[in-house]
Amino acid sequence: MTVTEAVRQRISTRAFLQTPISQGDLSSLLETAQRSPSGGNLQPWKVIAVAGAAKDEIIAIAKRVLAADPMGGIPGDRPVYPDFKVIDPVYDARRRRVGEMMYDKIGIPKEDRAKRLMWFANNYRFFGAPVGLFMIIDKRMGHGQWAHMGMFMQTIALLAEERGWGTCMQECWARLRVELHDHFGLDDNHMVYAGMALGVPDPNDPVNGLYADRAPQGEIVQFKGF
Ligand SMILES: Cc1cc2nc3c(=O)[nH]c(=O)nc-3n(C[C@H](O)[C@H](O)[C@H](O)COP(=O)(O)O)c2cc1C
Repeated sequence: MTVTEAVRQRISTRAFLQTPISQGDLSSLLETAQRSPSGGNLQPWKVIAVAGAAKDEIIAIAKRVLAADPMGGIPGDRPVYPDFKVIDPVYDARRRRVGEMMYDKIGIPKEDRAKRLMWFANNYRFFGAPVGLFMIIDKRMGHGQWAHMGMFMQTIALLAEERGWGTCMQECWARLRVELHDHFGLDDNHMVYAGMALGVPDPNDPVNGLYADRAPQGEIVQFKGF
């Protein structure tokens, strides 16, 4: 598989087979992913990988927290999205569009909000993936290091493609930052940034048929001096 193929075929996988991933295979992927670049080679990322009973514990925590407060959030926490009211509306339009494309694929109309919410809750079961990864960062890191964490995550996702695995990055886990922080026994300087579901994609689940589109290049790139 070429890098171009890996980049082009990677999607957010939202349904997985039960095929287990061994610790050895995952460890080898993560070791390669550590080759990701970071300013000053700080490598400002840490990962907690969960499978089996450890993953089930997280799912149980999520179930408990969400049942107690389905819509809640963490006051003052870093928001997952920017304030769409103040930025170029194109961003909100893109977010809405991919959401509609996804629910279209799985046939849940806008009016059926309850069903959409129920489907969204699959996030908190890692979409059935055998492995969940949690990306941990030192809160004192600046915006540069957060960007570098993103490179690390994308590298993991591309290496997964090469192995016939799929991934879904999951910032939804921000909702459980406090509980995960306690559960993992993190010190006060560290926080869970996001999760990532990882496993073999279910080829028969319609949600994995979603190939999210991208803005035309003209909206993104300016070429100068060619
Ligand atoms: C940091 C990050 C967090 C994300 N969090 C979630 C999430 O919590 N749940 C989800 O279903 N998708 C999540 N996504 C997936 C995005 O919705 C997806 O990347 C985007 O719609 C483009 O689709 P594609 O990944 O299939 O190309 C996340 C993506 C990124 C990069």
